[in-house]
Amino acid sequence: MSKELQLKVSVITGAGSGIGKSIAKAFAEAGSRVAVTDLNWEWANSVANEIKRSGGEAIALKLDVTRQDECQIVADFVVERWGRIDIWVNNAGVSTMNHFIELTEQDWDFNMNVNAKGTFLCSQVAVRQMLKQKPDMKSGLRGKIINIASMAGKRGNAPFLAHYVASKFAVVGLTQAMAGELAKQGITVNAICPGYVATPMQEREVEWEANLRGVSPQDVRQLYINDTPLGRLETAEDVAAVALFLASPASDFITGESINVNGGAFMD
Ligand SMILES: NC(=O)c1ccc[n+]([C@@H]2O[C@H](COP(=O)([O-])OP(=O)(O)OC[C@H]3O[C@@H](n4cnc5c(N)ncnc54)[C@H](O)[C@@H]3O)[C@@H](O)[C@H]2O)c1
Repeated sequence: MSKELQLKVSVITGAGSGIGKSIAKAFAEAGSRVAVTDLNWEWANSVANEIKRSGGEAIALKLDVTRQDECQIVADFVVERWGRIDIWVNNAGVSTMNHFIELTEQDWDFNMNVNAKGTFLCSQVAVRQMLKQKPDMKSGLRGKIINIASMAGKRGNAPFLAHYVASKFAVVGLTQAMAGELAKQGITVNAICPGYVATPMQEREVEWEANLRGVSPQDVRQLYINDTPLGRLETAEDVAAVALFLASPASDFITGESINVNGGAFMD
């Protein structure tokens, strides 16, 4: 039996850690050749090596998603190596936390640059390549873009994260605008909105939020769990499973969606 992503070529940004790492492993397990990209090449390389040790096919590439030139170099390298790009996952993201009135212009620029502008720059490069590819005979599709947005991309009530919220609402909006414009050319664009995912990003946020609220990190984690009807922290694998669905033929007729994967923490 062939695997869901057999012979596909995927590029995943920010794949050296957390959610991106899980997506890279899940895609490789499903038969995809995976370009594991990250700002930190050592982290990307360690994920690519893990994939190769398990019998998968992967390469590690340094990519800062805020740099248009690096996005292009990565796309060119992947096409040179594997001939095409079928799936591009915009996962790289950052956060900082503070009361709204304490947020700096630097907080705003950092979050907007990586989360929103990075998604824009990478998507342009990916789409330009996909448009050169012949549509799949069966689905009529040339490629799929998957954006990792956030529950904070739909629910503005996220304390200490006003700038991050703005950047993730931008990703949800961009997902819809791109999906509408690119559907006729055979490119689907969807997003995932995770909730409270236990990753290194969350560990940093727990420490910051504990300080801002004057409570313990364990109290903050409990707040997250209490806000989640399914009663536990989300795992990176919870997100990767839905990314795999969005990358696979099972989702060929879905575009412009931002799918909540949050244990019920936010419903719309
Ligand atoms: N952890 C959560 O609770 C949560 C919830 C909702 C959405 N998200 C989103 O999921 C995505 C992954 O987050 P995570 O929790 O795995 O975080 P993480 O910090 O564990 O991993 C993020 C990765 O992105 C990389 N990165 C940072 N800046 C980059 C840049 N300019 N270019 C390329 N790579 C860069 C980092 O090196 C790191 O490897 C982010 O977009 C985040 O906003 C996370």
